[in-house]
Amino acid sequence: MPTRLQISALADSPGTTVAVQGWVLTTRSSGKIAFVVIRDGSGYLQGVLAKAEVSDETWQRFQSLTQESCVRLVGEVRADQRSPGGVELAVREVEILGPSADFPITPKEHGTPFLLDHRHLWLRSKRQVAIMKIRHEIIQGIRDFFHERGFFLVDTPILTGSIGESGGTLFETEYFDLGKAYLAQTGQLYVEAACAALGKVYCFGPTFRAEKSKTRRHLTEFWMVEPEVAFNTSDDNMRLQEEFIAAVVARVLDRRAEELKELERDTSKLATVVAPFPRVSYSEAVELLKARGSSVTWGSDLGAEDETLLATDRDRPIFVYNYPRAAKAFYMKENPDDPRTVLCDDCLAPEGYGEIIGGSQREDDHDRLLARIREQGLPEKAYDWYLDLRKYGTFVHSGFGLGVERTVSWICGLEHIREAIAFPRTIYRITP
Ligand code: 4AD
Ligand code: MG
Repeated sequence: MPTRLQISALADSPGTTVAVQGWVLTTRSSGKIAFVVIRDGSGYLQGVLAKAEVSDETWQRFQSLTQESCVRLVGEVRADQRSPGGVELAVREVEILGPSADFPITPKEHGTPFLLDHRHLWLRSKRQVAIMKIRHEIIQGIRDFFHERGFFLVDTPILTGSIGESGGTLFETEYFDLGKAYLAQTGQLYVEAACAALGKVYCFGPTFRAEKSKTRRHLTEFWMVEPEVAFNTSDDNMRLQEEFIAAVVARVLDRRAEELKELERDTSKLATVVAPFPRVSYSEAVELLKARGSSVTWGSDLGAEDETLLATDRDRPIFVYNYPRAAKAFYMKENPDDPRTVLCDDCLAPEGYGEIIGGSQREDDHDRLLARIREQGLPEKAYDWYLDLRKYGTFVHSGFGLGVERTVSWICGLEHIREAIAFPRTIYRITP
């Protein structure tokens, strides 16, 4: 029995006879010589078969291969510079492991609703495979970045009793005799508690928001990484963010060039993403926006169009810092130099991708925090434990949340966030 190898390993084995298993992308035949391209996840491989060299039965079986049939090919690995991966397989034997008839997604153009209905099959396309590999690289890059810098991973709950961000976008469920539970909008409050135990921590998990807006940037279920650092000020927090984003982008450029090429991403627009990033205060941003024709007024949060206006012609992301307190969440620290504002930042990606990070220094004063909880009409009882953190050794601390799918969209250059996750959840879609 020939050894079975993954496609990515074949370049090291020219001249040997091997078995390869995967799914058929395309076939073509001249009548005397036939080609098949298969995929096994590790790469793409062209198999070549000459009619004269095999039995009629093998030739017939090869000719009958259809899109997405699962096959086992046995043959000799040959160096071939024009082939993907630099090798091709001179096929001797073909076995059909799983036939496939009338695969619904053909090389012709399909509409988006059709593709989303067939997302479980759409994932096999070259483009979706490239996106998923880049997403994998981004997530591994995130984990390595924090691990290498001495952060500890803390897993925070998904079923929670307190509102993390705002009341408007909560998914609720009944929770036995205890009343309502919510799907986590953030792990932040919990990671703040862990921060006093471990100093530098992060959580990384799915978060949920009942976003009623149908935009290119919103999902109802998305993944967020949230670091929290003891003794970091808002300024330190922004420095960590720019170093972090630059490291993740550099890693993808370094290790996923092939996939970025498949997506036809203009990588020159990513190569300039190095620290430091420009910083604009919220008040400066409002003046800039007015000068560019926006109707924004001081006091309101910035909308998607404003974010695009501010960041679009830049060669790297930009920070907008110290927003009005009324526009932001209850836990952000009041700015001692201008109490109308809080010590926070949004990091906006270039090319119109908008906010990828929201971060802040946290209110560490017990009484001010309690006043904010009351001001926003939040159920005080649910925050007892969170207020305790300000009673027992309160400390300056800051953190942020980076949305994985927004980051994937930006780095891959996607038109819509729904392609940035394998099975997107939006207000209109819960299947497949
Ligand atoms: O700005 P947000 O709401 O911040 C927080 O949740 C803080 N608790 C983070 C922290 O300080 N630990 O969300 C953070 C990021 C956004 O910048 C965006 O990238 C992403 O999460 N995000 C979404 N991504 C996809 N769909 C949605 N509906 C999103 N809402 C937020
Ligand atoms: Mg935000």
